[in-house]
Amino acid sequence: MAETRPAPWTETDVVGKPLPRIDAYERVSGTAVYAIDVDFPDLLHTVVVRCPHAHARVKKVDVSKAEKMPGVRAVLTADNLGAEVPWYFTREGPLSSLFDPHCRCEGEEVAAVAADTRHQAEEAARAVVVEYEELPFVIDPAEALKEGAPQIFEGGNQNQTRPYSRGELEQGFAEADAVVEMSFHTLCQIHTPLELHGSVARWDGDELTVWDSTQGVFEVQSTVARYVQLPLNKVRVKGLYMGGGFGSKLETGKYTVIAAYLARRTGRPVAVFLTREETFLAAGNRPANTLTLKAGAKKDGTLTALHLTGLGSSGAYADGAISGYLVMDLYTCPNVKVEPTEAYTNTGKARPMRAPGFPQCSWALEQVMDALAEKIGMDPLAIRLKNVPTVSQRRGIPFTSTGLGRCLEEGAKAFGWQEARARERAKGPLLRGVGVGAAIWGWEGETASTAIVRLYADGSVNLNLGASDLGTGTRTVMAMIVAEELGVPVDRIRVDNADTGTTSYAPSSGGSQTVVANAPAVRAAALQVKRQVLEWAARQLEVPIESLTLADSKVTAVATEGGEAKSVAFGELQGLQRQHAAVGVGQRHPHPEGKVALPFAAQFAEVEVDTRTGEVRVLRMLGAHDSGRVMNLMTFRNQVFGGMAMGIGFGMTEGRVLDRNTGKMVNANWHDYKLPTIKDVADQHVCLPIDPHDSECNTVGAKGLGEPATIPTASAIANAVYHATGVRVTETPIGPERMVSLLAAARQRG
Ligand code: MOS
Repeated sequence: MAETRPAPWTETDVVGKPLPRIDAYERVSGTAVYAIDVDFPDLLHTVVVRCPHAHARVKKVDVSKAEKMPGVRAVLTADNLGAEVPWYFTREGPLSSLFDPHCRCEGEEVAAVAADTRHQAEEAARAVVVEYEELPFVIDPAEALKEGAPQIFEGGNQNQTRPYSRGELEQGFAEADAVVEMSFHTLCQIHTPLELHGSVARWDGDELTVWDSTQGVFEVQSTVARYVQLPLNKVRVKGLYMGGGFGSKLETGKYTVIAAYLARRTGRPVAVFLTREETFLAAGNRPANTLTLKAGAKKDGTLTALHLTGLGSSGAYADGAISGYLVMDLYTCPNVKVEPTEAYTNTGKARPMRAPGFPQCSWALEQVMDALAEKIGMDPLAIRLKNVPTVSQRRGIPFTSTGLGRCLEEGAKAFGWQEARARERAKGPLLRGVGVGAAIWGWEGETASTAIVRLYADGSVNLNLGASDLGTGTRTVMAMIVAEELGVPVDRIRVDNADTGTTSYAPSSGGSQTVVANAPAVRAAALQVKRQVLEWAARQLEVPIESLTLADSKVTAVATEGGEAKSVAFGELQGLQRQHAAVGVGQRHPHPEGKVALPFAAQFAEVEVDTRTGEVRVLRMLGAHDSGRVMNLMTFRNQVFGGMAMGIGFGMTEGRVLDRNTGKMVNANWHDYKLPTIKDVADQHVCLPIDPHDSECNTVGAKGLGEPATIPTASAIANAVYHATGVRVTETPIGPERMVSLLAAARQRG
C-alpha cells in the first residue's frame, strides 16, 4: 500500500476548530456504555481476596466454607488454577505469578470469588480463610538497598537502570561561573481515574469476548490470548467509553485474566471490577523520587554541566521509577550525567503515569534553573531562552520543529511576565509571585496503525479505527480529519473504534501518541475515498479531475468561462451507487528519518501565599504549548487544563501515605487522598497554542499533547512560591503545613 505522502494541510475548514466531542451527549447523559455498564441476565460478580500485609507468604487458603455459600459459583486460587500462571516480567523472565503465594505488597491477589450478586461475592470473599506468614517488609527504597534488608527477590532489591552520560562532567563544572546543587523529594501519586479498572468476560463455545476499560484493546487481546491459549481471532476485546487511564490501563490487568478464567470455569459471563480502594493499591502509581541535581552555568546563562542522581522505588515489581530525560534533552548542555538507582520495595507497583518520571524530574530541573538564574543575576525566562535546543542531544538528531523558544517568549508576553517580575514584593501577609517551567516530552511511539473509511451510497460515512479514546476526544478529532478531506459534516460520520473483532491494529493510546500514530492513517484512508469520489464525479460531470472540489457532501467543478458550476451530490454519484460504498484503507507512514518529532511547552504560574497560615493559592496558570497543529481547539484546551489540574495535584495536594509500622497505605480512598478539586485549581487558566507549522513530523503536523500538559505545572508553581516568599519548596506537596515551617525557618534565619 505504498503511496506518496499527501502534502501538509495549509488552510483547514474543520481541523483546528473548537468542536464539542461527537459523543459528548452520550457521556453527560449517562447513555454511554462503559465496561462496568455491560450486563447480562446471568452475569457473575467477582470479589478479589487481597493480601492485607505489606510482605507475607500464603501458607494456606481454605475456600471450603466460601464455596458452599449462597450464590457462589467459583473460587479461584493458586491451588486450583491448574498450573502456575507467570506474571510481571523482566527481560530475564517472570517475577511472580497469578495468585503468587509470595505477596510482595499490600493488595496482592490471593483468590477470587464469583457469585450471582456482588453482595454474595463479598460475603464469600470474607469467608475465604487465608493463613499468612508475615514477613519483614521494607517500604523505603534507601532502606531496601541496605545490607540485611528484607529480600523482595532473590539477588537483592536493586532494580536495573540505565545510566546516561555525555561530555566531560568535571570539565563542565570547571568552566562554570556558578554552580548550584540541590536535593528534592516528590511523593508517590496515584492515577485514580474516575472510571474503575475492570472487565467483563464471556465465552461462546471456544471463543472469548472481553469488555475492558483499557488504553489498548490489541494489547489486552494478545495478553489474554496467551493466557487462555487461543489464537488471536478467537479473542475479541471491546473497548468502550473510557473514564480515564493516565497510563494505569496500558498494561493488561490481572482482573481481566481472572475474569476470563472464571468465565471459562463457570460457563457464565463474569465481571471483575476493582473498588476505589483497590485501585489505590493494585493499579499502579507514579513513584516517589529523591533527586539531587547539580548544575553549572556561565555568567551569560550558558549551561555547562548537569548531573542528576536519583533514587526511586519501582514498588514490588520492575518498572521505570526515574526519568532523567528532561535533564538530557530540554536544554542545550554538552556535559550531562544521569545516575538513577531504583529499588524494589514492598509497595504497589510503579506504572507509567502521564509523562512517567517527567514531573518529578521537572520539579528538580526547573527549580535548579531558577536558582542558577538568580545566582548569575539573570531572569528565569532569559536563562531558559539562552539554552533552547534545536537538536535532540539525547538522540543525536535534529527536531522536526522546536517551539520551545516561542512557548517561552509568547507565553511570557501573554502572561505579563515582565510586569509581574518587576512588581515590588508586598509588605503584608499575602505575598504574590510568578514562576515558569519549561518542558519537552520524549516519547516517539509505534507507527503501525491502519484505519478504514467507508462512504456509503447515501453520503454517510463510517470511520473504523483500532485506537481507544481515553476521554481525550480521539473519536472527535479523527472524525474531523475525515470531514476535512471528504467535505462531509462531522455529524454524518460514525466512528467505530477499539474493537479487535472489527477494527485493525492501532497502538495502545498512550505516550501522547494517539493523534500522532492514528491521524495520518485516518487521513490516508479518507484520501483514498476522496480519490474514488473524484474519479466518479469527473466521469459523470465530464470535467477534468483537477477542476473538482469536495464540500457540503457534494463534488463541484470550477465553473468554466461562460458556463455554470456543475456539481453532483455524493448520493447521486452513479459510481458510488453501483458499488454501494467507497472504501479507503489507510496506513501510518514511518517516522521521519534522521529527525525526531517531540512537543514542547512552557507553563507560567502566579501564586498568592498567606504567610500567616501557609496556604498557597494558584491565582493564574498559563500553558503555552507547541504540540504542533491544534487538531481541535476545545479538546486541546481540555488537555492543557486537565494536565495543569493533575500537576497541581502532584505538586500541592496528592501523596500516598504509608504506615511505617505496617507498610500499609493509610489514605487509599478519595477522602484522605486529596485530589485537587475546583477549589485547588487556578482561578484563571489560559491555554496558548504555539503552532510551529511542522511539515516534517507527520502528515497532519501534530506532535502530541496529553503528557506535556502536566510536566512543568508543579515546578512552575514552586518557582512562583519562591518568587513570592524567597522560600524554596523542594519537597511535595506544597501545602500549609510545609509552608508554615519553611516560612518560620526562613524568618529565624532572618
Ligand atoms: Mo501514558 S503514561 O503513555 O498513558
